[in-house]
Amino acid sequence: MNIGFLSDKNGFRAPLHPDSLTKYSKTKLFVEKDIFKNLDLDLKDYKKLKNLNKTALKQMDVVCFVDSIDLNIVKSLKPNTKIIGLFDEKTKKEIMKLRQDVALYDFFKLPRISRAQNMDALSSQANLLGYASVLRASLETSNVIPMMTTAAGNISPAKVLILGIGVAGLQAIATAKRLGARVWGYDVRADVKDQVESLGAKFVEASSTSQDGVYAKELTKKEEADLKKALANQVTESDIVLTFAQIPGKKAPLLIDKKTVSKMKKNSVIVDLAAGTGGNCELTKVGKVVQKDGVKIVGEMDILKNVKHAATKLYSENIRNLVQLLEENPEDEIFEEMSKHD
Ligand code: NAI
Repeated sequence: MNIGFLSDKNGFRAPLHPDSLTKYSKTKLFVEKDIFKNLDLDLKDYKKLKNLNKTALKQMDVVCFVDSIDLNIVKSLKPNTKIIGLFDEKTKKEIMKLRQDVALYDFFKLPRISRAQNMDALSSQANLLGYASVLRASLETSNVIPMMTTAAGNISPAKVLILGIGVAGLQAIATAKRLGARVWGYDVRADVKDQVESLGAKFVEASSTSQDGVYAKELTKKEEADLKKALANQVTESDIVLTFAQIPGKKAPLLIDKKTVSKMKKNSVIVDLAAGTGGNCELTKVGKVVQKDGVKIVGEMDILKNVKHAATKLYSENIRNLVQLLEENPEDEIFEEMSKHD
C-alpha cells in the first residue's frame, strides 16, 4: 500500500509524526517536502520517507491530511483513492462534485465505540485542547493558579469554572486541579456530575435546565436565559472561566452575557473555546483577545498550536491505527460510517 501525507500548509500540525514511522511495516510512505515544517524538524533526518511529487500522487492508495486539502491534489489522484482527514462540509461537497470515485474517511464521522477509540482524532485533539486552554488562561491572568505560602504572606488558589464537560472540559478540570486550582464544572447533561466530582471538582447545580441522555439537546431561548442566570454567580466569583459548551452543527449556547462580565473580578479571564461556533460569551471575538471592564476574553481558534508536537503525535497515531484496520479489514463498517454524507 502507498500512503501519501500532505503538509498542513495553513495550520500548525502534520498528519504524520516521526514517532509513528516504525509502526508502518507493509506500506510505502510518501510525504510532501514541507511535511515537518510546522514541527521544526528536518525531513532529511527521515530517510524512509519518499517524496510525494506530482507523479507519486497518482500512485497513492491512501492520502492523509489534517484539516485542509487542495482540490488540485484531489484531481491528480488515481481512481478509488481513500482520503483520510478532518473534513469540513464545504470541502467534502467540492470533492464529491469533482470526484465521485474517491472515498472520504472523515474523522468527524468516526463512530464513538470502544474499538474505534484509538482512531478517535476528535478525542485526542480535544484532550490536548483541554490541557492547553488552562495553560493559555494561566498566561493571560497576571495572578497565579496554586496557593502560594510565602514569608510575605499567602496567595489563595485561583477559582476555575469549566462550562461544557466533554472530553476537553474533563481534561481542563484535571489540568486545573493538578495546578492547584479550586475547580467547578457544569454541563447541561446531568450524568456529567459524577465525572466532575470524580476528578475532585464541584458540580454547579443549575437543575432547571439539566438533561438526561448521552448527547446534549439545544436549549430553548427561555432555558438558555434561565441557565445564564443560574450560572452568573459562579462566573462572577471565578478567576478563570473556560467554556467548551457546544452541540455539533448548532450555534454555541450563550452562557455568559456582558452584564455578568461587568460584575467579574478585575484581572479575571474567560477562554471561550466555542468561539468558532458563535461563542459561549457575548463579548467573544473570533481570533482575538478582548478586554472589557478589566476582564480578558480569549477567542483564539488555534490554542492547540501551543502543543502542536503532541497534537501531531496523537493525530498521527490515530491515522496509523485507522490504516492498520484498513490493511486488516477494508470492509469494516467503521469505514462505511466515516464515509457517510449528510
Ligand atoms: P464535546 O462536544 O465533547 O463537549 C461539549 C459539551 O458541551 C458536551 O458535554 C455538551 O453536553 C455540553 N453542552 C452543550 N450545551 C450546553 C449548555 N447549554 N450548557 C452546558 N454545557 C453544554 O466537545 P469537546 O471536544 O469536549 O470540546 C471541544 C470544544 O472546543 C468545542 O467547542 C470546539 O468547537 C472547540 N475547539 C476550539 C478550538 C480552539 O482552539 N479554540 C480548537 C478545536 C476545538
